[in-house]
Amino acid sequence: MRRLRRAVILLKRGMREEQNIVILTGAGISADSGVPTFRDSGGIWAKYDYREVATPEGYAANPALVHEFYNLRRAGLRQVEPNAAHTALAQLEQHLSSRGGELTIVTQNVDDLHERGGAQNIIHMHGELTKVRCTNCSEVRIWRGDLTPETVCPDCAAVGCLRPDIVWFGEMPMFMDLIEEKVAAANLFVSIGTSGSVYPAAGFVGVAQSLGVQCMEINLEPSENAYLFDETRYGPAVKAVPEWVMEIIKGK
Ligand code: OAD
Repeated sequence: MRRLRRAVILLKRGMREEQNIVILTGAGISADSGVPTFRDSGGIWAKYDYREVATPEGYAANPALVHEFYNLRRAGLRQVEPNAAHTALAQLEQHLSSRGGELTIVTQNVDDLHERGGAQNIIHMHGELTKVRCTNCSEVRIWRGDLTPETVCPDCAAVGCLRPDIVWFGEMPMFMDLIEEKVAAANLFVSIGTSGSVYPAAGFVGVAQSLGVQCMEINLEPSENAYLFDETRYGPAVKAVPEWVMEIIKGK
């Protein structure tokens, strides 16, 4: 079915030469900006129990703790800046779109460093730290301050119903249909700075592979899925990503 959908997309495009690249990013791309990763030594899950702070059950049991966890991370965003990997991807986006192609950044990251680095075509599959959602009226809004269990929803006035607009373990990631469509229409899938241990994101390389899309991994070290990629490059994202982007821009 997926192969058929890809064949139709390619036919519609008339096999033109434009490049459509889908990039999956993870915590590693923001590591050199000072945003902690999850599973490296000293990472976030070494300090916090994810069941307490990143599941619907943890939130039901102790909303104040969950808010404190995300308040700290939201405040941390103000201390960090996009790095050379984020800005290189923004440059690549401009380069491809000026030639009729497209770059889609699918990110597992809840930070806003891709946006602040200048990229525009970004899909936040695990949500965003700078947004909250009301469980009473479902309104999603930008939120840069703290949340507490007493916070009042500005839309419906419900108390204690605002939660981070973040996907927790056990919840469905966002925009899955759109992501699958983008992968099916890509000529290249690149995974950057992710350990490949959280599904469904970790499964995108398998989907791309099964559709005949070329796959490349850029990471500090081989991820759990490294064997599935056609090409691998290892090193810090701030070095490896701008180098790769320059190769594309120079047509190497
Ligand atoms: P992880 O912490 O699991 O993996 C980070 C990856 O980045 C590792 O493979 C590191 O080797 C690599 N890395 C570290 N520093 C790097 C650098 N400077 N340059 C390049 N790579 C570097 O983070 P994610 O794979 O993003 O979900 O984790 C996926 C999801 O698990 C997150 O979105 C989050 C987490 O639990 C939820 O909270 C639902």
